[in-house]
This record gives sequence, structure tokens and C-alpha cells, in this order.
Amino acid sequence: MDYRLDLDWDDFLQRYWQKRPVVLKRGFKNFIDPLSPDELAGLAMENDVDSRLISHHDGHWQVAHGPFENFDHLGENNWSLLVQAVNHWHQPSSALMRPFRQLPDWRMDDLMVSFSMPGGGVGPHLDQYDVFIIQGVGRRRWRVGEKVPMKQYIPHPDLLQVEPFGAIIDEEMEPGDILYIPPGFPHEGYALENALNYSVGFRAPNGRELISDFADYVLAHDLGSRRYSDPDIKLRELPADVLPHEVDTLRQMMLELVQQPQHFQQWFGEFISQSRHELDIAPLEPPYQISEIYQLLQQGESLQRLGGLRVLRIGGQCFINGEVIDTDHLPAVDALCHNFSVDAALLGEAVDDPSFMALLAMLVNSGYWYFTH
Ligand code: SIN
Ligand code: CO
Repeated sequence: MDYRLDLDWDDFLQRYWQKRPVVLKRGFKNFIDPLSPDELAGLAMENDVDSRLISHHDGHWQVAHGPFENFDHLGENNWSLLVQAVNHWHQPSSALMRPFRQLPDWRMDDLMVSFSMPGGGVGPHLDQYDVFIIQGVGRRRWRVGEKVPMKQYIPHPDLLQVEPFGAIIDEEMEPGDILYIPPGFPHEGYALENALNYSVGFRAPNGRELISDFADYVLAHDLGSRRYSDPDIKLRELPADVLPHEVDTLRQMMLELVQQPQHFQQWFGEFISQSRHELDIAPLEPPYQISEIYQLLQQGESLQRLGGLRVLRIGGQCFINGEVIDTDHLPAVDALCHNFSVDAALLGEAVDDPSFMALLAMLVNSGYWYFTH
């Protein structure tokens, strides 16, 4: 399924992205859901899939975590089933993320899908990340408030909500409508009838995550072995003093670690090409021989990228799921980076190079790409 998004991207980026929430009425015309509520319920019964059931009655909120065995005990109102990273587990759903590729892949996270009965929702809250919430089947009323400092509270150990807020957007969303919300704007959505919603979520690392992951890289690669030294040390008045230029030198030592462009790029590529959610990886048993892959490609078969696999390029280096890929065949790498499905024509002359084919075999046998036949 090809989803065509009716949006003036230049205008959107300039006026709304990371600035203001907005409803994109009929962003998708004649919207058809990529999955049914039953299929979503089925995913929420699987072990590896991350799901939650949220319900509320008379202001009391309840949260249950999947996998679920059945949904029989639920009433007709006030609950919502949310499933994370549906694009990893349900191929057709991932097509809903493609139209948002005007924004870079590295900023994109996953597709969260929710099914809500009338009155169902997660309550008023803030998110740290940008999100496009697409209305599927049914109708849901969404309210968004101004981004102002707000008190957050915990109505249930697994829920973080905000106090009631005044609305700057208050809209009944219909199939194909899209609500864009930048980080920090309070919002809440209540279903008016049985409703599916698709949230295309983004990611944006904070300094804490960057420092912490970079520190792991420094340890793993034995960097930063140079030790503080002070051959020009002077006598000081108070031995208890750490002098300003000493603090400067120490800070400089830390900065020097970050200011190694090659290492920084290598680390960031590994870091950002890892998915935040589990992948549906099934290493191939028995593995393909290189010659089999060659043959299948020559027969016109194409290789499909695993849903949610992050394939990114930084300065000519290609990173796949936390690892750098070494090859000189840049057009083939471009094809793997850019397309979700590749065939012999897209890979070009690389398929005639045994070393590239060995790399491709490794990717296929790891479960990162698969033949669709
Ligand atoms: C949803 O209920 O589908 C989205 C929840 C949210 O606002 O993050
Ligand atoms: Co939200």
C-alpha cells in the first residue's frame, strides 16, 4: 500500500515543525487502515511485542502490560490498547511511516498503534518527542494545549499525566486526519467511537544519553588512556585549592576525546543506528550460500529490509543496526540506505563482486534483509 501525504513540506517545516501543533485535515485522502483491531490485538498477545492496556473509570486509571492472553474481560468503554513499534512486526503498517521520510531517518523512531473504545485514551500528558498522530478508522476528539510549564502527576505508577489544560486545538479527527504535536505540548485524545490511531514518533537524544553512550564507546575502544600530568606545577598558597587552569586542563582532556572526528562519527553511527525497540530478527537456518543469493537476485527477486531496521549514512560510512558496513561499493550502499526493497538492478555492479556479495549474505543471514517470495 502506498500512502500519499497531501502536505506542503516547506510550509510545514517553516511554520510548525518543533514549533506549533497543527491538524492536517485529510492529510491522507481515502485513508485505509493497514491493519485491523483484531490484528493489533493479535500482536499484543505476542511475547516480544511491547503493549499496554490503559483504562479509566471515575477518574481511576489502570494499566496492564502485555503480552495479553485475551481481551474478554474488557467493557465497551474507556479503554485503549497501545502497541509499540508495530512497524517492526507488521510489514504493511510500516508503509505509513514512509511519507514522513521528508524528515531524516535518523530522527524517526517507531510506529505506535492504539485501538480505543469510546472514552478510551491515555489521559492528558506531555511527550518528549515530536509525533504525527494519524486517525484511522473511527473518530477521536483531540485537545492540545499551549506549551507552558505544567505540573505533572502520577495517577498510576505507570502513567505520567498533567493537570487539565485549556485547548489551542480541539478537534474531532476523522480517518486520514493527522495531528502533529511538537515536544512539550500537553494533549489528550478520547475516542468517540471505536478508533485506531497511528503515531509516527521521532527520537532526539539528550546530552545525558549521548555522554553515557559515548563513555561506553571510550571504554570499549580503550580510548582516553592519556593521564593528567603537570610537569610545570607551581607552589600554591592553599594545598586544598584546585586551580582554575587545572580545571581547564581536565575539561580539555575530556573535550579532546569527543573532538576526534573519526571516532565521534563511528560512535554516533553505531549509537543512532540502533533501534530503541526490539527487531523481529530471525537469523536464517540454514544460512544462504552466496551463490544462492546471487542466483535469486539474477532471477529478479528482491530483498526487503526488515521492519524498523535502521540503515544510516554518515560521511560516506554506512551503519546498520549498530555496526559499520565496510565496502567500496557506494552506489550499492546508497541503494540499501535509501530503499526498503532492493534488487539486482538497484545494487548494480556490486553483485558481481564476491566481497560485496559476502557482505550481503551476512546481512541476509542475520535476518536484516529477506527475500519476499
Ligand atoms: C494514542 O493514544 O494513540 C496516542 C497517545 C499519545 O498521545 O501519546
Ligand atoms: Co502523547
